[in-house]
Amino acid sequence: MEPKRILFVCLGNICRSPIAEGVAQDIVNSQALSIEVDSAGTSNWHEGEHPCSHSVKIAKHNNVDISKQRSRPISKKDIGKFDYVISMDEQNRQDLIDFGFENVYKLGDFGGFNGKDVPDPYFFPGFEGFEKVFHMIDTAVKDLIQKIKHSTNTSEI
Ligand code: 4NP
Repeated sequence: MEPKRILFVCLGNICRSPIAEGVAQDIVNSQALSIEVDSAGTSNWHEGEHPCSHSVKIAKHNNVDISKQRSRPISKKDIGKFDYVISMDEQNRQDLIDFGFENVYKLGDFGGFNGKDVPDPYFFPGFEGFEKVFHMIDTAVKDLIQKIKHSTNTSEI
């Protein structure tokens, strides 16, 4: 059977979506799931860069290694390739739809967050914001993967 494919998307692909990719990859590895995960940015502003140092640090504190990821922008080749396209906030979702993606969810649709945006920690002054953001992403990604595991129809999660 084909693996399910998930794409996590934020603006820069250096703060939020790399954490989501890392947390999801960790679950996939530990449970040996047939799921492929990737992440991308709606901008190319940080193309080729590693995730921001605060994201690397908070992930490491939680035993998730995201240090080797590299930022990349979304591409037309991504359209139709992923079963689930998961944006971090409403602006990302709109940008993805404008770009041509369909069935775009927000990560805050999962984990009991009632569709809340994952706040953009790039503009937070310190590290504390990243701890909150990590917790939200971790909770929502765990719920998302649980739902994907139990869904037979990709359009229903
Ligand atoms: P991300 O955070 O979308 O979570 O990766 C940002 C990273 C960089 C910028 C904005 C948000 N920036 O304006 O460069």
